[in-house]
Amino acid sequence: MSKKLEGKIALVTGGGTGIGLATAKRFVAEGAKVVITGRRKEVLEAAAREIGPAATAIQADSGSLADLDQLYAEIKQLHGKIDVLFANAGGGKFATIENVTEEQFDQTFDSNVKGVFFTVQKALPLIPDGGTIVLNASVVSVKGIPAFGVYNATKAAVRSFARTWTNELKDRKIRVNVVSPGPIDTPGMDGLGANEEERKQFKAGLAQQVPLGRIGESDEIAKTVVFLASDDSSFVAGIELFVDGGMVQV
Ligand SMILES: NC(=O)c1ccc[n+]([C@@H]2O[C@H](COP(=O)([O-])OP(=O)(O)OC[C@H]3O[C@@H](n4cnc5c(N)ncnc54)[C@H](OP(=O)(O)O)[C@@H]3O)[C@@H](O)[C@H]2O)c1
Repeated sequence: MSKKLEGKIALVTGGGTGIGLATAKRFVAEGAKVVITGRRKEVLEAAAREIGPAATAIQADSGSLADLDQLYAEIKQLHGKIDVLFANAGGGKFATIENVTEEQFDQTFDSNVKGVFFTVQKALPLIPDGGTIVLNASVVSVKGIPAFGVYNATKAAVRSFARTWTNELKDRKIRVNVVSPGPIDTPGMDGLGANEEERKQFKAGLAQQVPLGRIGESDEIAKTVVFLASDDSSFVAGIELFVDGGMVQV
């Protein structure tokens, strides 16, 4: 069977761990060359070694416009274009409305909203007509998970961008879609528990909220991102594809 991304150049932000790393691996398996970004250099370089010679690691904070300018200058030199952009970098921490600090609010919006916006804006000159953009939101774009209000709001904003950009980029035949994972077993999810016992309980609690009765694996998101990034989804635009074991729909 022919590969779905043969000869394509892909950028995966936050590609050093979790969903981003799994997707970068899938992109390469489908014939693409991939650039992965993240803030921690060692994590990123280990990931690039794990993916193999088709991967390049470039340290960049998506929330920093200077870092993004540097990133795109390097990609321009290296590959000259970006056919597939997976804006995946992001994260959040628990805090109820009474406890959210200005710093936490700004950090979360910088990574998840400002970061996604300028990651896409500044990539546009490198994306050829017919390119694809996939944004990583979350089921929380349509849910009010308590003590997660700032994160929930950032993901609703990400979902909104895909609607507007589908219209704004249609003349260039650039398709924009959102993948919205349910609970997925990643280092990011592990970071939400203080210790092993808390993590186990947290994951078991989440699994109970999923009709399929379990939390998901990063590769289950990666497969969906390949679909949205490739020609298999040629008439799919502006959607939010929930990959959540039925959590939102059932
Ligand atoms: N796991 C879930 O259950 C779940 C569910 C729905 C949505 N998501 C979304 O999926 C995406 C990936 O998360 P994950 O679960 O795979 O967690 P993860 O393992 O923590 O992956 C996130 C990656 O993004 C990088 N990153 C974070 N902020 C960044 C920034 N400002 N600039 C550049 N890189 C940044 C992190 O590396 P550095 O810290 O080194 O920068 C990390 O490698 C996130 O957007 C998350 O909100 C996850």
